[in-house]
Amino acid sequence: MTAFDLNHGAVAPVADEVDLVEPPITGNIPRELDGTLLRNGPNPLRGRFEGNDVLSWWPEAAMLHAISFEDGRVASYRNRWARTRRWADVYAPERAPQLPDTNPNVSVLLHAGELLAMAEGGAPLAITTGLDSLGVPRRHEGFGGGMTAHPKVDPLTGELIAFRADWRAPWLRYGVADAQGVQRVDLAIDVPAPSMMHDIAITETRSLLLDLNVGYDFSMLKHGHRMPLRWYDDRQARIGVIPRHGGDVRWFGIEPCFIQHVVNAYDRDEAHVVLDAVRYPSYLRLDASTGRFADNPVAMLWRYVIDTANGIVEEGPLADGGLELPRINESRTGRRYRYLYAVEQPTPVEMRGVVRFDHERGTTLRYAVPAGDQNSEPVFVPRPGGVDEDDGWLLVMVYRAATDTSDLVILDARELHTGPVATVHLPRRVPAGFHGAWVPRTH
Ligand SMILES: [Fe+2]
Repeated sequence: MTAFDLNHGAVAPVADEVDLVEPPITGNIPRELDGTLLRNGPNPLRGRFEGNDVLSWWPEAAMLHAISFEDGRVASYRNRWARTRRWADVYAPERAPQLPDTNPNVSVLLHAGELLAMAEGGAPLAITTGLDSLGVPRRHEGFGGGMTAHPKVDPLTGELIAFRADWRAPWLRYGVADAQGVQRVDLAIDVPAPSMMHDIAITETRSLLLDLNVGYDFSMLKHGHRMPLRWYDDRQARIGVIPRHGGDVRWFGIEPCFIQHVVNAYDRDEAHVVLDAVRYPSYLRLDASTGRFADNPVAMLWRYVIDTANGIVEEGPLADGGLELPRINESRTGRRYRYLYAVEQPTPVEMRGVVRFDHERGTTLRYAVPAGDQNSEPVFVPRPGGVDEDDGWLLVMVYRAATDTSDLVILDARELHTGPVATVHLPRRVPAGFHGAWVPRTH
């Protein structure tokens, strides 16, 4: 893998927790932006990563960041490690027995009135927008054993659709909670071997499970790898289609790939399911001679059309160039949709630039980020009361290499190419991390 230093630049951790009041702003913050942008990611408790590959990065301790908007200004920025047993082992050993043993470092989700920091397969942690850790969720009890960090919420029914992939049997569970967070469906799903599953897609009637070419290889642990995951040429990549509330899973073979993130999915008609995703033609490929990972290629926007009547899957790219961390207007989750927003990947080690793709017109708009800088995923915030799918803003953290600081850039989702409507200048770095969420004040 290309050498990149996890302790310098956009992904580098911070070593402390701070509270900042009213950071400087350029431009005008839309007054309708009333709420908090939360971000989550791995940040070692002692402020330094050990090792320099992705598997030295992903498993580190959860740190959350919150930028709070109010009355056309930014009221505050703060960051906190999640209060887990792992945190207490370093900072407050006497509290360790009372704290949850999980590491919710991937994403943030508001569901059933509960704000959750989400883990990769582990149990969520209830938090507040002020980044207080509340401990084990009061709702979502059915997922206490853990779930994906990317469950989907049906925008009309309020249901939460999730899975749990595990290296211990059962290797795959699928579940649905109702709008109050009570689990209504919980199924073990038979798969031939445990595999790396990070995301799930839903339509109005079905859920789509991704059993792809990255799986577990426990022999890697003996060779110093912290997470025993790698690409397998000989696994059959498959999409599993299951009725939302349970039933037989039908598996459809696809070309070898790995999908970290889906964009969206929908029922095109009774028989056809459309899945849009960012697809890697290979991922975590281990070079047997050196014991090191090859560079991951960039991921491309890819469409699968599954004909459930005759079992045929058509697949192919929707756009050129590397993309990752796709987001949509989540009121369209599981439905036909027109726009997606994503981070551009000019090279496998850069997350730089924001792109908007319009499926209807096949056009793209771009917000360029200068070489050397990097940016996070664009979180779409709908304008309150807005009707059009693209009526809203994109909130993007941009790391400025020259000053080792981060800006929060606010783009009009309809015209991101014209530059920010406002920029919040933080005096320090917000590490690249993984995912974020917008939580309106009214929640
Ligand atoms: Fe993710």
